[in-house]
Amino acid sequence: MKIAIGSDHGGFELKKSLVAKLSSLGHEVSDLGCDSDTSVDYPDFADQVCAQVLEGKAQSGILVCGTGIGMSMVANRHRGIRAALCHNEYSARLSREHNDANILCLGDRVLGKGLAASIVDAWLRSSFAGGRHQRRIDKFSR
Ligand code: RB5
Repeated sequence: MKIAIGSDHGGFELKKSLVAKLSSLGHEVSDLGCDSDTSVDYPDFADQVCAQVLEGKAQSGILVCGTGIGMSMVANRHRGIRAALCHNEYSARLSREHNDANILCLGDRVLGKGLAASIVDAWLRSSFAGGRHQRRIDKFSR
């Protein structure tokens, strides 16, 4: 799968480990930065990942900051982006099945690397269930 990923400095370490993991699993990962733990502004990276997803250059996006909150706020301002901030596998799976989330947001300061990888795995393995959920999505996608 083509996956666009981005972080700010607060999410840099987790992003690095996710890029390595996803690449080793055979995913085509587009790492849009940041490239160090030097302080940067999370909206700049959220916007880039959202653009890749909206332009169809990536099927899914992953955004990491300290808490995941700032990234999810920015991403959800983009029409057509449905970003889910998840702290466990159950929410990650349901964000796909019910909400058709196209961006997963994670908090590096909230999650351990093992749990984060497991959340990403659950999210990527899940797919949209459609039906009544599509009707609900349509109501906030106009
Ligand atoms: C950066 O210190 C921090 O505010 C950022 O990574 C994120 O947690 C914002 O929501």
